[in-house]
Amino acid sequence: MQTIKIALLGFGTVGQGVFQILNEKKEEFRNFFGIDVEVVGVLIRDVEKLRPLPAHLFVTDRFEDIASIPDVDVVFEAIVGEEPAYSYLTYFLERGIHVITANKAMFAKHGLSLQKVAENYDATIGYEATTAGGVPIIKTLKNLLQVNEVENIAGILNGTSNFILSEMRTAKCTFEEALQNAQDFGYAEADPTDDVSGKDAFRKLMILSQLAFGRQPSWEDVEVRGIQTLTLRDIEEAEESGMRYRHVAEVNITGSGNLQAVVRPLLVGPSHPLYTVDGVDNAIVIDSEYLGKLTLIGPGAGRFPTGSAMVEDFVQVISSKPKVIIPQ
Ligand code: NAP
Ligand code: HSE
Repeated sequence: MQTIKIALLGFGTVGQGVFQILNEKKEEFRNFFGIDVEVVGVLIRDVEKLRPLPAHLFVTDRFEDIASIPDVDVVFEAIVGEEPAYSYLTYFLERGIHVITANKAMFAKHGLSLQKVAENYDATIGYEATTAGGVPIIKTLKNLLQVNEVENIAGILNGTSNFILSEMRTAKCTFEEALQNAQDFGYAEADPTDDVSGKDAFRKLMILSQLAFGRQPSWEDVEVRGIQTLTLRDIEEAEESGMRYRHVAEVNITGSGNLQAVVRPLLVGPSHPLYTVDGVDNAIVIDSEYLGKLTLIGPGAGRFPTGSAMVEDFVQVISSKPKVIIPQ
């Protein structure tokens, strides 16, 4: 049986989720795809932290250490920030090694260049987990783009912000309490400033824009506002008038072919498709040529939804065929 050797870059919330799912699905990989999966290296930063894996698997972020991971077939990347992630993924792709990333801060800026490197070296780059956690927005967009022009994408793209707004409304939490809960659940970024300032949603919007329109608007032209200025009173007043605040990121193409994008808290009423989207869920409404409006809703952050999205990309890598489910 063929063994697929895996390196995990990052062993935090997402990296550990990927590790657990790969372990729990070992039998299925054997039975359906005829492969064994073996983790041969794990990149971390802090060598002092206690880890539930043998010490010989761990490497630190010195480049020589990364290059010493033996014979890797697939790399999962879930570390923080543009660098060293971009350099490492370039390094692996240039060796024809497939990579799967959850790192939207890196991918929003360098995704196009990485995709070109992947193409040149006959490798693939999976990025489903960069946008909307477990919601299959990237594969859905890729499918519908085969037939449709996309006209507008609007949605809740940050799970932490939606969770905070929901907790403040339903449990009357303060902003700080709700943020602490989001951090405890593993939804928030290591530095949650990007979640609550709208920057994280903005990066995901840029990833979607690149895919849907083949380009991004100039970043400096996009108005980006977060939820951090909303008070409990604002949220209560909205509820009293039958409205709810949602943090909505939106990009559309104008008649003259320009891209317009905005990220901001928006008041929506009961008939709006985002009105009932609560908790850590993300939701995206795609408006396209023949299909019309399609709405996807689901968990937008967290260990297992994000891990699932990455392992789905892995399944694409190991097989061009979908898994065959045999009815009992
Ligand atoms: P996390 O819990 O903070 O884990 C980050 C991991 O990466 C840790 O193992 C850390 O090492 C390692 N690391 C960070 N910076 C590093 C560096 N410069 N060099 C080497 N190792 C480094 O973060 P996370 O929540 O798993 O998120 C990981 C990535 O996935 C981020 O890019 C995030 O934006 C993205 N993402 C997160 C979610 C989510 O729900 N959490 C969802 C989608 C995408 P130590 O263990 O030594 O600290
Ligand atoms: N911090 C991000 C969020 C993680 O809350 O949406 C998922 O990308």
